Amino acid sequence: MAEIMKTITSIHDMTTWARDRVLNRESIGFVPTMGYLHDGHLSLVKRARSENDAVVASVFVNPTQFGQNEDFTVYPRDPDGDSEKLRSGGVDVLFIPEADELYGQDYETYVELERLPLPLCGKSRPGHFRGVATVVLKLFNIVLPNNAYFGSKDFQQLQVIRRMVRDLNVSTMIVGCPTVREPDGLAMSSRNAYLSPVERKQAICLHDALMIAKGLFDKTETDASVYIKAMKDRITEESDARPDYISLVDPETLEDLPTVKDAALAVMAVKIGKTRLIDNMSLAG
Ligand code: PAJ
Repeated sequence: MAEIMKTITSIHDMTTWARDRVLNRESIGFVPTMGYLHDGHLSLVKRARSENDAVVASVFVNPTQFGQNEDFTVYPRDPDGDSEKLRSGGVDVLFIPEADELYGQDYETYVELERLPLPLCGKSRPGHFRGVATVVLKLFNIVLPNNAYFGSKDFQQLQVIRRMVRDLNVSTMIVGCPTVREPDGLAMSSRNAYLSPVERKQAICLHDALMIAKGLFDKTETDASVYIKAMKDRITEESDARPDYISLVDPETLEDLPTVKDAALAVMAVKIGKTRLIDNMSLAG
């Protein structure tokens, strides 16, 4: 595709562009984001670039996935920086829809999964995954991607999208990608920008706790409560850290595992001051 990145804001123009690619038998790779891009997002772009003829990235802070008391209005934004990063990453089209166009007046259709959104983040963020599944399906219908790229950092989101695609016979392939971390282990996140310098130092406790879980797994510990206590102890060493949840779950069903044998995912949400951070690590092998 061309060296020059196109920016498209209208749904009609986006779909017209995508239909042309389909007619030319070019594959479309898609990276949906909420912007304020970091190297985690850009790793998805890189993978999409290497596996498709054309690459579309979207930047849209989706109002329907934020709760009433959440950070929708203050979510960090950097349109110029994002555009430059995506251009250097080789993206062909940056899609930035307007909220009014995506959710017009009288909007009333949502995608709701029955079970996967209930545990973990779903407990403290009711309605969040309904908003995510809805916007992702809408974006798929507009961008017509063959492949779409999602980070494993948001593991529950990845599983919700995989299940939605399977259940609704969506023809897009979902590609899960590894979590990109800062040198000290903190998972990259747009929300890290909220942390004060002191909180930023304390935030390393999430990764430390996951490494403690990995160490227990390597020593063949099987009792989940031993893992959870050890992880909680590390997190509560930090004065501003309060765990929302810490769990060992089956990576497919996201149900709690009382006993850790083969595949298990250590997963957590922790508030550092006012900022809620999530992270996870696979304990399989
Ligand atoms: P956002 O938080 O901007 O993330 C966009 C994509 O980047 C998601 O697939 C997320 O898992 C991935 N990502 C974030 N941090 C990452 C990291 N450190 N390493 C690798 N990948 C990372 O997730 C959303 O936006 C929204 O919910 C969205 C799917 C766009 C729907 O609105």
